[in-house]
Amino acid sequence: MRVDVFTQVPHAFAWLTEQKPLATVLGGELELRLLNYRDTTPLRAGQVDDDPYGGGSGMVLRVDVVDAALETAYGDARPERVVALTPQGRQLDQQLVEELAAEPEVALLSSRFEGFDDRIVSRLCTDAVSIGPYVLSGGELPAMVLLDAIARRLPGALAEGSGEHESFSAELNGGLEYPHYTRPSTYRGWDVPEILLSGDHGEIDRWRREQSRLRSVG
Ligand SMILES: C[S@@+](CC[C@H](N)C(=O)[O-])C[C@H]1O[C@@H](n2cnc3c(N)ncnc32)[C@H](O)[C@@H]1O
Repeated sequence: MRVDVFTQVPHAFAWLTEQKPLATVLGGELELRLLNYRDTTPLRAGQVDDDPYGGGSGMVLRVDVVDAALETAYGDARPERVVALTPQGRQLDQQLVEELAAEPEVALLSSRFEGFDDRIVSRLCTDAVSIGPYVLSGGELPAMVLLDAIARRLPGALAEGSGEHESFSAELNGGLEYPHYTRPSTYRGWDVPEILLSGDHGEIDRWRREQSRLRSVG
């Protein structure tokens, strides 16, 4: 799939692109384009935002600037999912991640300062997505959160089997994952559950499912 991130700060993504699993799928299952509004703005001197009508502090990302960025990237063939990252959007969950990871192309639009001219969200985007009920200073971290979550769902991103029994997966009926332990088997009197040392994989599987169920209720 291809993900296009529209941002004023493309260099912010340098760290993420070096991290697994994103680095693993980059250039293969995932094509990532980082597109700077400033490169395609029709305004002079790289201007992308403006004062809010009605007064108030903070700058607002302009609709003509975002439209020009989308026009340059896609012409008339815009992606099925053009996502505005905003604290006012649908809250991100695993179901939405799966939905977006199944798309051939997704555009992620970030903003800064006071946010988007509302016509960007209502007229140019198909989705508005929030990563949680709090306000960050820009859409770059939300875009990275979404990118990482999407990358994990792409073929070859994770070691064989390691993404199957994760929290919120269908394999665990959408519940939380069971607890994990590693060596030492006892530490300061804190013992690893006996069952995990038994070698009985049928029983271990049953125990894990039960633990997952217990963690997921309430
Ligand atoms: C300071 S915020 C603007 C907040 C906006 N004035 C409001 O009160 O709803 C600047 C930008 O950061 C991004 N952002 C901040 N918090 C976010 C969140 N929880 N989820 C997604 N994007 C967020 C959005 O792109 C937003 O336009």
